[in-house]
Amino acid sequence: MMIIVFSCPILKFNSMGLKITAAITAVGGYVPEYRLTNAELEKMVDTNDEWIRTRTGITERRILKGNDKGTSDMVVPAVKQILEKRNIGAEEIDCLIVGTVTPDTVFPSTANIACHKLGAVNAWGFDLAAACSGFLYALTTGASLIESGRYKKVIVAGSDKMSAIVDYSDRTTCIIFGDGAGAVLLEPNTEGYGVLDSLLRSDGSGASHLHMKAGGSVRPASIETVTNKEHYIYQEGQPVFKHAVKDMADVSYELMQKNNLTAEDVTWLVPHQANKRIIDATANRMGLPAEKVMLNIQKYGNTTAGTIPLCLWEWESQLRKGDNLVLAAFGGGFTWGATWIKWAY
Ligand code: UT7
Repeated sequence: MMIIVFSCPILKFNSMGLKITAAITAVGGYVPEYRLTNAELEKMVDTNDEWIRTRTGITERRILKGNDKGTSDMVVPAVKQILEKRNIGAEEIDCLIVGTVTPDTVFPSTANIACHKLGAVNAWGFDLAAACSGFLYALTTGASLIESGRYKKVIVAGSDKMSAIVDYSDRTTCIIFGDGAGAVLLEPNTEGYGVLDSLLRSDGSGASHLHMKAGGSVRPASIETVTNKEHYIYQEGQPVFKHAVKDMADVSYELMQKNNLTAEDVTWLVPHQANKRIIDATANRMGLPAEKVMLNIQKYGNTTAGTIPLCLWEWESQLRKGDNLVLAAFGGGFTWGATWIKWAY
């Protein structure tokens, strides 16, 4: 049957008048082999396992080893899993969006490099920098490409090699972050499944609390910036924590209210994994018990744009068609948001 796509100002419909939504149809993930444990960090900085576990919920994180390995080397295996699961070729990918703040290089984009490594010869793509909200921003962007009716297979990845920008002599940040990547395939759906709503927020006044001081156009790399360790993550933990606890919880609750979703309607909360205490606050605000919250921070730490798709990857076999998922994130920028997905398979 030939499907004709036509548009009204807001929504896209197929020839039968059905709205096109962007459904996730497969999930892939990749975490590096190497496990950096709390015990190992105790030997590197003045910290201890008990402090890390009680303040963050983290026990270990994965680290991508190898001098010539970058973020694209985690995106590629995650995407290959998707292609195998859906039994499709790389040449069928229309677009690859990579949420990341640790691109292989400033340019070309990680998406560009990953498409080449994958053999995705018909794809275009780009990187999207929204720190820990990178996957949510990229997912909403990718969903819009599908909803427009113009693209049929869009892959959205969240991938960060945080070990590349962590100062392993700074105990306030090195205990938190890890490396990893997750990815989802988006395809058109006319049965009401997929990405149904997103509330995304941004507030640049929070930039000074969580950022990298140098390496951009304002303060290019120099001997001075390297000597001053300005190419590492700089984070003021407490203000970030306060904003994260409030804003991630508020936006998730607002998304539920806007869409008349009760706590009973929500099957899973898929939160950014930055700190278990932030996740608990969000779940409480939404009225969700712990059993409905995806949590793997203990194993992987904070992989920035990787956390949410890595949760989807781990929980994929437990998800059922029709499940309501609320994805929620907060990160550098500040950036934050929440997305409602009705699971499609
Ligand atoms: O994903 C992107 C967004 N980022 C976040 O969401 C992170 C938000 N922030 C946090 O998760 C928390 O603020 C941290 C985990 C970073 C820090 O936890 P905290 O409970 O806010 O600790 P704090 O900064 O208030 O520090 C409390 C104490 C301090 O000692 P004093 O001044 O009370 O003597 C710190 O020096 O803990 C000390 N401390 C540590 N002690 C042992 C800080 N880091 C460590 C450490 N080990 N690794």
